[in-house]
Amino acid sequence: MKVLLLGATGNLGIRLIPALLLHNHSVVAFVRSSSKLSSLLPPTLLSQIVVVEGDAKSSGSIKKAILDNNCDAVVNTAGLAALMPWQKSELPRIFEAVVQATKVSGMERNKALRVWFLGGMGLLDMPGTRSIVGDYLPIYREHLPNLALLNSISTETIRWSILCPSVMTPRSSTVELPMQAPTGNLIVSATVPPHWKNVWVRKIPLLGPFIVLGLNAGQYTTKLEDNAELIASDLEKGGDEWVGKKVGVWDASQEKHAKK
Ligand SMILES: NC(=O)c1ccc[n+]([C@@H]2O[C@H](COP(=O)([O-])OP(=O)(O)OC[C@H]3O[C@@H](n4cnc5c(N)ncnc54)[C@H](OP(=O)(O)O)[C@@H]3O)[C@@H](O)[C@H]2O)c1
Repeated sequence: MKVLLLGATGNLGIRLIPALLLHNHSVVAFVRSSSKLSSLLPPTLLSQIVVVEGDAKSSGSIKKAILDNNCDAVVNTAGLAALMPWQKSELPRIFEAVVQATKVSGMERNKALRVWFLGGMGLLDMPGTRSIVGDYLPIYREHLPNLALLNSISTETIRWSILCPSVMTPRSSTVELPMQAPTGNLIVSATVPPHWKNVWVRKIPLLGPFIVLGLNAGQYTTKLEDNAELIASDLEKGGDEWVGKKVGVWDASQEKHAKK
């Protein structure tokens, strides 16, 4: 696929470049500063991609990048959600701009674009309750209206998915084309967090869900490279498995190491 990647200078975005190339995609990186991208990416990878400069708050610029480069998919990693409820980031404006640009581009081309967005783990449903994890953790709340916006859009208009990871850490500080894809490291599920321990204490009035959250918290750190691989391989498959869904991830390699 031809993929427009927003936020290519970020932690996840920079690792998406080799992952997308490994899965035979053409990459158009949309960045605020091409010189920053050049300083982060080895020349061998930089020479394989197209770079467009722009502001991700501008739906017009994103639409132009999509149409000029004939992209069929978009991955938005631009913007970082504010941690506390009283803080504000640019993410909501970026999110709206990407939604608007992908919607209009799809309509003009008469073919809906495939789009991966980023959310946070707080958007996932907490099994055994009617709540989402985020009801109990008042952090990264900017993801909530972003999800509401996606839920208001038919998947015939935008073939969207939203990845909802907890903390993502790097496996390697260097960015390079891997010899082979890092497969099998993630357990992935729609709507709910994979591997969630839904213990009986959840039935304790008021405190129960907090105890469940405490027992599960800290178990959901994943690797940036594995999340990049998930998106890149899904785009290569081109199926509908995650379309219209919020997607949770769990690092299965924790278990592999524990068994050794
Ligand atoms: N990292 C995690 O542990 C984690 C966990 C859960 C969810 N998430 C979500 O995943 C997404 C990616 O995370 P990350 O760690 O890769 O973020 P990051 O390292 O902060 O990267 C953010 C990227 O967005 C770009 N950006 C910001 N404003 C922009 C604008 N107006 N126009 C164009 N580009 C803009 C930045 O470009 P510049 O280089 O020019 O600043 C940077 O490339 C975020 O939405 C975050 O909330 C992250």
